[in-house]
Amino acid sequence: MFERILVTGANGLLGQALVGCLSREPLYDVLATGTDAEPRFCHASCGYTPLDVCDKRSLARIFEDFTPTIVINSAAITQVDRCETERSRCWDVNASSVEHIARECQTIGTRLIQVSTDFVFDGKAGPYSESDLPNPVNFYGKSKLAGENAARQAGMDKWTVVRTNVVYGVGRKLPRNNFVTWVHQELTANRPVRAFVDQVRTPTWAWDLATGIRRIVRYRKRGIYNISGHELVTMYEFARSVAATFGLDKSLVLPVVSKDVSLAARRPLTTGFINLKATTELGYKPHSIPAALAHLKCLSSNGGTQRLLTDAGAEDP
Ligand SMILES: NC(=O)c1ccc[n+]([C@@H]2O[C@H](COP(=O)([O-])OP(=O)(O)OC[C@H]3O[C@@H](n4cnc5c(N)ncnc54)[C@H](OP(=O)(O)O)[C@@H]3O)[C@@H](O)[C@H]2O)c1
Repeated sequence: MFERILVTGANGLLGQALVGCLSREPLYDVLATGTDAEPRFCHASCGYTPLDVCDKRSLARIFEDFTPTIVINSAAITQVDRCETERSRCWDVNASSVEHIARECQTIGTRLIQVSTDFVFDGKAGPYSESDLPNPVNFYGKSKLAGENAARQAGMDKWTVVRTNVVYGVGRKLPRNNFVTWVHQELTANRPVRAFVDQVRTPTWAWDLATGIRRIVRYRKRGIYNISGHELVTMYEFARSVAATFGLDKSLVLPVVSKDVSLAARRPLTTGFINLKATTELGYKPHSIPAALAHLKCLSSNGGTQRLLTDAGAEDP
């Protein structure tokens, strides 16, 4: 089915994977948008327009000009500690802007796919399924939960919430590190990495997440979907897997517990997701952590290890 898909936050980690994944589909006309004047990625087959999702007038203009049939909202302030200290900006981007987007969607019958997080949960009883009760423990989680609720205003059968966690991967000129690129960067420079032994997640390769969302688009699914990796690991184990894959010094990965590290935002302990619904309804099959990391290694070795951090190009298995 032909779709006009508007992607927000398209210069970010997930945004770039989404654009790469969706714009290869001949029946999808993709318009990527982001805060930068120019796209950071290069996909000749999709358009790009700058868009700050908090700017209501620009949003309305894009809806009028492009008349999307689907919006995938991956724009967010994702720095959890920054959200704690810049609450007003965090709320504007992660919650209020979703209300505006949902209202525009409701006006012309557009479907809204809102990307959300494990941080809507308190981490006392993970891994979580779609029906578990949210209870965020930090401001980022609160703002994202408000974003989930706002997305429902798109209309009864028009909203989908995709929850994910610890998204990793590469892209072109990414604005910030993710866990894998950070561990790689630090260990390559022979600096120690402190990783939590009491924070448990199901890390998610950005490309797997993008392909899961593509299936949601294709099968026109609505409601809440968990889309993450399948393996439940501590962040310490995950950091050691990165070291092992890239042949870096594992002994530089130091185990720490949450109570010994002071951060602006409290982290939930055990989150991660049960992906049963996505597996059964969408045929979603994420790569294992070793397979995904091996793929990233392969990408980076095509252009030197530095390329993992700076300019690895589209992730394309
Ligand atoms: N990364 C994770 O581990 C993780 C885990 C769970 C859920 N998620 C969710 O997944 C989604 C994608 O995150 P990501 O990992 O791709 O993070 P990311 O790389 O930080 O991407 C987020 C993008 O949103 C953009 N953005 C911020 N404010 C904006 C605004 N006002 N208007 C338009 N765009 C704006 C950012 O641009 P700037 O660079 O200009 O700020 C960035 O390009 C988010 O909804 C996030 O909450 C991520």
